[in-house]
Amino acid sequence: MRRPYIVGNWKMHGTADALTTLADIAACADSVAKQVDVGIAPPATLLHRAVSSVGGSALALGGQDCHSEQHGAFTGDMSAEMLRDAGAEFVIIGHSERRSGHRETNADVRAKAAAAMAVGLGCILCIGEPLDVREAGEAEDYLAGQLAASLPNSFTPDMLTIAYEPIWAIGTGHRAGRDDIVAVHRLIRTVLTGAGGDGAAQRVLYGGSVNASNAADLFAADEIDGALVGGASLKAESFNAIIRAAAP
Ligand code: 13P
Repeated sequence: MRRPYIVGNWKMHGTADALTTLADIAACADSVAKQVDVGIAPPATLLHRAVSSVGGSALALGGQDCHSEQHGAFTGDMSAEMLRDAGAEFVIIGHSERRSGHRETNADVRAKAAAAMAVGLGCILCIGEPLDVREAGEAEDYLAGQLAASLPNSFTPDMLTIAYEPIWAIGTGHRAGRDDIVAVHRLIRTVLTGAGGDGAAQRVLYGGSVNASNAADLFAADEIDGALVGGASLKAESFNAIIRAAAP
């Protein structure tokens, strides 16, 4: 059985006043802790204070990116070991905003995922196709190639989660259709198994315009193990509604 997993990606949002939001989310995470795993990746500047404020609750805290090396002359970067030291339990790797805005390649993503898992951080590895690829009917080939090239050499269901985030669905209000998501999640499991993993045991999340109104429809599909949520994770009211929708 795969446990539902709901993760909020706060991106570049949140200063100290957002810690009250985290406390409200942590209370909700505690209330469903028997059934659902919940995480929030706040900006790195908030991570340590977030751990002080909600550490000990069922809410896991994570980073939004890490370097592939654990230390060195990399001004402005952050290592997986540093995230772990600050209290992170997981890290998001290969988000499309990093792939496009910071030119991260599949090889970079693969190295970062390996670095994260090497220090015991869970890894949420993101893949997603742009609109022109979807419209050309080439999404599945594109995604299979992207995932295969981004996967570290070894991975286990407890350390690695895949998030399917179609680029055209992020922040647009256009969530992908459930049947299309299910088809991609099946493909992801096949790729994971082909790479030596156990695809049926791996959690696969969907991300892209998930909100309190459309979450229950998503989670009705067995193939969809949860969501990676951007905008709707910034307010406790909407994020907690998504968490509750995932509780069986
Ligand atoms: P939105 O939920 O705002 O569409 O963002 C999704 C996302 O990019 C999460 O990583």
